[in-house]
Formats: sequence, C-alpha cells, structure tokens
Amino acid sequence: MYDKSTFKIKSEPVILGLESSCDETAAAVIKGRKLLSSKIISSATEQAKFGGVVPEIASRAHTEAVDDVVKQAVDAAGIALKDIDAVAVTYGAGLLGALLVGLSFAKSLAFTLGVPLIAVNHIRGHLAAAYLVDETLKPPFISLLASGGHTAVLHVKNYTQFDVLGSTCDDAAGEAFDKVARVLGLEYPGGVNVERLAQCGENDVPLPKCTVKNSQTLQFSYSGLKTAVINYCHTARQKGAEVVKENVACSFQHAAVDSLVKKTVECAVERGVKIVTAGGGVIANGYLRQTLQEECAKHGLKLILPEKKFCTDNAAMIASEGLIQYLNGNFADLNLNAKAQIPLA
Ligand code: KG4
Ligand code: ZN
Repeated sequence: MYDKSTFKIKSEPVILGLESSCDETAAAVIKGRKLLSSKIISSATEQAKFGGVVPEIASRAHTEAVDDVVKQAVDAAGIALKDIDAVAVTYGAGLLGALLVGLSFAKSLAFTLGVPLIAVNHIRGHLAAAYLVDETLKPPFISLLASGGHTAVLHVKNYTQFDVLGSTCDDAAGEAFDKVARVLGLEYPGGVNVERLAQCGENDVPLPKCTVKNSQTLQFSYSGLKTAVINYCHTARQKGAEVVKENVACSFQHAAVDSLVKKTVECAVERGVKIVTAGGGVIANGYLRQTLQEECAKHGLKLILPEKKFCTDNAAMIASEGLIQYLNGNFADLNLNAKAQIPLA
C-alpha cells in the first residue's frame, strides 16, 4: 500500500512532472536538476475555434492525451517507468476538470510504481523553471512572475519561502494581453498575437502605465490600461478615424511591460539582490525579454531567463518544483484533491 512515511529520499531522484491545469497536457522527466525530456500535447488549436479555453474541451483533450504524453516523455528521457523515483503533479490553480485528469493519472502511477506523489502549485512551478536553466542557481533572488492568472514580483529568500514585493490588484498581465487581443480582433491565444502585431507598430497611442503604489506594497493594475485601449478604439471608430491596430498593440505592449521590468529591477537594486529570474507565459514576450535583459545588464544584475517554451505552461517546471518538495520530504496523500485557486503566498 501507499504509505508516504516509508519513502527514502535520494539526492538525485528521477522525477516525472505532469501538468494539465489549462489547455496543455504536458509531461517531463528530470534527474536531479538535469532536464531529460519535456513533451506537450496542446488543445490550443481546438480552443481557438471558440476564441478561448472551453473547460469541457480541455478536460476531454487531457483524457485523450495524458497517456501518450507521458509515454513520449519517458521514451525521450531514455528511462523506463521503473526508474521513476517520484511523480510531481499540478494540483492547482487551474480548471478543475482539467486538473483532475492529470491528478488522477499521477496518483495511479505513483501508487503502481510505489513512489511518492508530490503536489505542485502551478505558479510555484513557473517560479522553479529558472532552476533548470542554471543548475547552480540558488536563492536569494528576485523573480518576476507574469502569466494568465498572476502578476507578481517576489523576493525569493530560500527554496520554499518568498516575500511578495508587488502584485496586481485587478487583472493579471496575461489576462490584459488576451483582452486587448480580443478588442483588436486577434485570434486565441491572444498574447503572442498582440506581440506579432506590435512588431510592425509604433508606440504612439497615449496609454496609462500599469503601476500603482500603495502605502505598503507595490501594486500593478491592468484594468485601467485595458479600459483605455477599449476607449481609444471606440472613440476613434466613432469619429470615423482609422485605428492602426499595430500601433495600439505596440503602445499597449510598452505600457504593460515597461513598469513590470522597471519595478523588478528597482526591487533587486533596493534590496541589494544580485540575481533576477522570471517565469510565466508573459515572459515569453520578446519585447519584455529584451528590455529585462537590457535593464539587468545596466544595473549589473545577473538575469536567469528560461527559454520561451519553459515560460508558457510545461511540465519541466512542475518536475523542478517537485524536486524541491521531494528533497524536503513533502509528499502528498492519495486523497489529494484539485484546487481551482491557491493563494500565491
Ligand atoms: O503561464 P501561462 O502559459 O498560463 C497560465 O498559467 O496562465 O500564461 C498564459 C498567458 C496568456 O495570458 C497569454 O496571453 C500570455 O501568457 N502570453 C503572452 C505571450 N505568450 C503567452 N503574453 C505576451 N506575449 C507573449 N508572447
Ligand atoms: Zn502557467
């Protein structure tokens, strides 16, 4: 029987990571901090027909893909199932039906193999993606997290603890990219399409910045920026003026990204922290990557930036966070349930 108190901890375990919180069914294998494989089967093309993620379609797609994606990851890693020392799985935050597919599969696998099950918080997975880029990376560092559900600057103090230095008080950065994409008539997934359009545009539409400072913490606000884009387009159309979509996309991208980069670097400088990392889908944005690189270089900060494919949802990051939990002996019970929401801290 599965008894989490009996598992021995190895120093360089082989961990299978599983991710199914949204529209990507993903599996990856790591050995210690070394990435052996990472595979994704996405239902994004199917979802695009509906202009966004339909939860029921996501769950069904995960059900069809999960066995295949695990097999692909195991084969590509050159291991057998019996070599796996632990199974790490996203248990939240995300779409409940989607999460339950990965979770049930991971439980069955951990039970059958007689290895620990590890519960991973998706956003902590995004944070842990940086550990796979540089095997020597150690806290403390400052991390910028920006995805469809979160926007935050963290002071990571050790492998399990961080202070939230700033976060959004309304929409997440990725959510704003997706909403602006819709206003501009772009297809799902929105963020990357806004970036494509922005590449041919000028930053000439006056838009508000996305930071708000309150008394204790730094806060980002995206809803005002989103509304300003909507109002600009609406007013221009009412006047019969042409809306140059490329310029709106480019101006929005500057307004959405510049404050994130500036504040992240300021936090590192103010706290005397020399390393900056980043994670989450918005960090795949080329303009953000370039400005973050330039600003970090200007201030003598070392930047650890995961490749674009490890910024958007993947299972390598889940295995990476799984390793941290594994080394702490933090194993889950088999009655682990999925959670739609998990607080960041
Ligand atoms: O981390 P992620 O893949 O899923 C969540 O955990 O939410 O992030 C998805 C978000 C979406 O809102 C998407 O529009 C945004 O990341 N995103 C981008 C880019 N690629 C993905 N935003 C701006 N530029 C991109 N290239
Ligand atoms: Zn994500």
